[in-house]
Amino acid sequence: MNTLTAGTTAGTIAGEFHARRVHGLKADVLRLVEEVIDDGVFHGGRRVRELEAVAGRRWSAHALATSSGTMALECAVRALGIGTGDEVIMPALTFVSTAFAVAAAGAVPVFVDIDPHTRTIDPAAAAAAITSRTRAVIPVHMHGLMADMTAVRALADRHALAVIEDCAQAAGATDAGRPAGSIGDIGCFSMWVGKNLGGLADGGLLLMRDRSLLPLLRKLTDLGRDGERNTHHLRGNRGRMGEIDAAVIRHQLDLLPAWTDRRRTLADRYTEAFATLPVAVPADAPGRPHTYYKYPLTMPDPATAAALMTFLSRTGITTEQVYPHAVPHQPALSEITHRTTGIGVTLDVLPRTVCLPLAPELTDEEAGRVVQAVQDFHTGRL
Ligand SMILES: Cc1ncc(COP(=O)(O)O)c(C=O)c1O
Repeated sequence: MNTLTAGTTAGTIAGEFHARRVHGLKADVLRLVEEVIDDGVFHGGRRVRELEAVAGRRWSAHALATSSGTMALECAVRALGIGTGDEVIMPALTFVSTAFAVAAAGAVPVFVDIDPHTRTIDPAAAAAAITSRTRAVIPVHMHGLMADMTAVRALADRHALAVIEDCAQAAGATDAGRPAGSIGDIGCFSMWVGKNLGGLADGGLLLMRDRSLLPLLRKLTDLGRDGERNTHHLRGNRGRMGEIDAAVIRHQLDLLPAWTDRRRTLADRYTEAFATLPVAVPADAPGRPHTYYKYPLTMPDPATAAALMTFLSRTGITTEQVYPHAVPHQPALSEITHRTTGIGVTLDVLPRTVCLPLAPELTDEEAGRVVQAVQDFHTGRL
């Protein structure tokens, strides 16, 4: 196995590239693991502290490393005092964790529609869903593009709502130059291995402008402890990050800007090549440059999207729909008290979406094959 073949079968192009990424970093990762083993400290040591310090400085806030993005969201909801009977507004297009975190606190997820172009929360739909029980809104920065945080923040301020940014898909993204996670009350990142910035398996990060939230969040991520091993002040979670993941993520933090540039170069190549095709390509929003965690093509109808996926799969190219189902339509939601407002745009856009392979590790030759295959699909059909 070499770096290019890691996680793939010969001649195919994978939908995700983290096996290739980790393989490419293998020498560094092995060195970092060895250093942690030699130090003999696996939690709460200098690597976690350094990751928190560097991420906090880079993203203009205070940072706390967690075991996952899901854990970060759960702790954020609880830290803001959201609980039974409260409502929290979020887009219907997100990963289930956004809703699960709210439900875990005993609160009610309220699903609203997205903007068809950015696929992020529609601020007008969020405004229309506010009731006397609404306590917070969770904008989700989808596919690497930030939600309209100026509009969300203004709405939240008007109604005295908290804002939790779901930054799981948007490490390094900005809105008017402000880093993802630094605009809301708390930002929640996933550092799952396949994200734009990821560890070896799972990881996450909480970001907050208000330092006074830090002690409570730290307790929530460490079984309610406050630095002393045998006293548990509240019912917290086993939610801390380990030293090995912290070391790997800290290492990648310095690589992230170049990786984001590479994602943009590849995305620009796709976008230019598809300019004359009957598809909608992802684009920056004003002041919000895309970081392309995913490159979603929007096809004219669900049947064409399915046909494109089948066609690409036959040529060895894996695609995905992120996500194929609106969260309120997931079976698990039958056991969660929730409310759904009109989500017509979400339901229209999801089955028409095809995410093409895109990652810093994709070679120019592979990107060329993807372009050619999408063009061939249209030539054959038109
Ligand atoms: C939008 C969104 N929210 C939350 C999460 C949860 O993060 P994690 O998988 O690290 O728990 C993810 C990750 O898949 C995500 O994409």
